Amino acid sequence: MNTINNNLAIFQTGTENKQTIIFIHGFPFDHKMWDKQVDYFKKDFHCISYDIRGLGESPAGDGQYTIEGFVDDLFNIINELELKKPVICGLSMGGYIALRAVERDEEKFGGLILCDTKAEADNNQGKITRANGIKEINLNGVERFAENFVAKCVAEDFIKKHKNDYYEILNRSKHSGPVGVKGCLLAMAARTDTTSYLPKIKIPALLLCGEMDTLTPPDVMMAMADKINHAEFVLVPDAGHLSPLENSKVFNYALKKFLYKL
Ligand code: MLT
Repeated sequence: MNTINNNLAIFQTGTENKQTIIFIHGFPFDHKMWDKQVDYFKKDFHCISYDIRGLGESPAGDGQYTIEGFVDDLFNIINELELKKPVICGLSMGGYIALRAVERDEEKFGGLILCDTKAEADNNQGKITRANGIKEINLNGVERFAENFVAKCVAEDFIKKHKNDYYEILNRSKHSGPVGVKGCLLAMAARTDTTSYLPKIKIPALLLCGEMDTLTPPDVMMAMADKINHAEFVLVPDAGHLSPLENSKVFNYALKKFLYKL
């Protein structure tokens, strides 16, 4: 693990003089959700994953987060590590960060990979659901919140067929503290809408979505891909919201095809 001056937990593998891919995890997970991608791509790429402030091994601080602040953290990583045109790959909340980072400074990036995410900001019902999440954490703790939330993230069969993978990711998400988890809920509720930037994206873009994703369903992601010039869309079979973990074979193959064309 390398940490940089803002105390984020950052993990680097692979060859530094190769194309860099930065993997940004979803909520309420940590960098380990990308293990199957980092293991697969580290031979030919420089792979960076990190824990978003307040989750995994990154300290929570005061929990006063915004997606803008998360983008500042990402830009700090790029600057500190002197990364040249990294490809950015974000899932769900990681996708909100990636998309807003590209909107703020597209020149920094060589490619964009968006997984199980969306460009729209939370509507009123979405904000109320975040508020209920915070209430649930206050009443019952992060563990109970994570048990309920993570179960909705995977396809029904995944829990039965891949018990170990499921409980590993669930148990890791239970370990983040309440300050960090609630801070992320508030940051997501307050995020901006990036839809109007989609037609302006010039860098190559790949969008992937689990066919059984109920949180950011395939029709939402297909509509998003339609708005981005030359974007590729891949539907990942036998997967819900955590497509890189639930069907890493199809996911990695699609990524590989995209990355080798850059
Ligand atoms: C995630 O996986 O990051 C979350 O589902 C995002 C969200 O709750 O909007």
